[in-house]
Amino acid sequence: MTSPRLPRPRSAGHRDPGDGASGAPRRVMPPPMTPPGSEVTQLYGPEFAADPYGTYERLRHYGALAPVEIAPGVGAMLVTDYRAALDLLHDPETWSKDSRTWMKSAPEDSPVLPMLAWRPNLFFSDGEAHGRYRSAVTDGFERIPAHELRTAVVEFADSLIAKFGEKGEADLMAEYARVLPLMLFNRLFGLPDSYSEQLITALAGVWEGRTAEEASAAGAAFEGYIGELMAAKKQARGEDLTSWFMDHPAGLTDEEVMHQTVITMGAGHEPTANLIANALARMLTDDRYYSTLSGGALTPLDAIHDVLRNEPPIANYSAHFPKRDVYFHGTWIRRGQLVMVSYAAANTQHGRTGPGRSGGASGSGGGSHLAWAAGPHSCPVQQPATLIATTAIERLTAWLSDIELTVRHDELTYRNGPFHRALTCLPARFTPISPDQPGATPWESRESRPLEERRTPATPAR
Ligand code: HEM
Repeated sequence: MTSPRLPRPRSAGHRDPGDGASGAPRRVMPPPMTPPGSEVTQLYGPEFAADPYGTYERLRHYGALAPVEIAPGVGAMLVTDYRAALDLLHDPETWSKDSRTWMKSAPEDSPVLPMLAWRPNLFFSDGEAHGRYRSAVTDGFERIPAHELRTAVVEFADSLIAKFGEKGEADLMAEYARVLPLMLFNRLFGLPDSYSEQLITALAGVWEGRTAEEASAAGAAFEGYIGELMAAKKQARGEDLTSWFMDHPAGLTDEEVMHQTVITMGAGHEPTANLIANALARMLTDDRYYSTLSGGALTPLDAIHDVLRNEPPIANYSAHFPKRDVYFHGTWIRRGQLVMVSYAAANTQHGRTGPGRSGGASGSGGGSHLAWAAGPHSCPVQQPATLIATTAIERLTAWLSDIELTVRHDELTYRNGPFHRALTCLPARFTPISPDQPGATPWESRESRPLEERRTPATPAR
């Protein structure tokens, strides 16, 4: 990673353009697309993945926003200040989510394009169009009763634990956290389980984006998968999100339904997997959580809140483009320039949370956070996502009461990429549970009755 440019004085907040004349620092912005070899902090690659919080600290020297490179040749301004992030996210008059103008100058083969290329969906739309798309998504999720969602998560959690329970060890990322939301989405959107592997491979590629080819192939695989789903649901509706999108009073066209389905699955899967895994990583390496497994103080929900505040699953996103040249928190931003919010940096700004532990601050205190973003584009599925993650963790720790990681927390590694905080793996060990031993409850890991029996929604204790 290259060094950031020379530190500049911190600005005091949002000022009008005229303020520059009265002494506020004016900054020269990097070109929206960075020329090869230019020295801008990289928000990708192994060094960033190994120490993103060190990078955020260095970026704070620029003030509320800093110039970064999110992929080779793709420059952006990154908001690292909490107040500035809120100001941006709550000001749709100034800031647009429409990336079409920006795309004209973006490298066509960039690995970040799957995350930034405009499509007719709620992520990239403003105002009325956004409200129309968003209503279909929020109304769809409201039709799923919380207890049914929980029952489904329990069922999928138990079936996954049954697969690795006898081994006494598992990669909780690959064998649990990444797969569970996927199995759930298959059901919620009306997909057969046989599509799970196709979906997980495609979505991992979209988020990771190591090379343009990989990212593009992953995007194509995901859209192919969605195409099959759409065709099936057009033939026969069901009690599922896809069918509800199709029949929503907003009157979405087939293409619009397809795009809201793609974005909702894509937006939901990866961060939910990372929320589960990042929270488990904290719980299983921190005595305050370890003691909860046998009746101590902190709970899985505490771990989730800890992660949301201190290590948000989506670290940097909320891509916005100013509708006009704007002087924002001490920095001139050109019309159409890419500006992203670092939820991770804003949340952990000095004075907001406790001292850092590898990968961010620790402790479950700290108050408000931006892990779900804020404003009109904030995550519309916060409660269901929290329920899914909490239930997944509760279920795992209930079955495997002595589970622990096989590496220290500071030995864990994270995937490359500017957007997410995603573990490469989460290796754990535990006393094997024996599916053929009769008479057990989920809390007795040694003498469990057949896991298969407990997979049915009616049997597990809650
Ligand atoms: C069931 C799981 C989830 C689903 C279906 C889901 C769906 C969505 C959708 C559709 C949006 C777009 C909203 C809009 O533009 O109006 C969104 C935004 C967002 N979601 Fe979620 N989400 C889920 C879980 C999560 C999780 C676990 C996190 C992280 C803690 C998260 C963080 C965000 C953030 C930060 C945004 C704003 C992104 C932006 O504007 O660029 N979501 N989500």
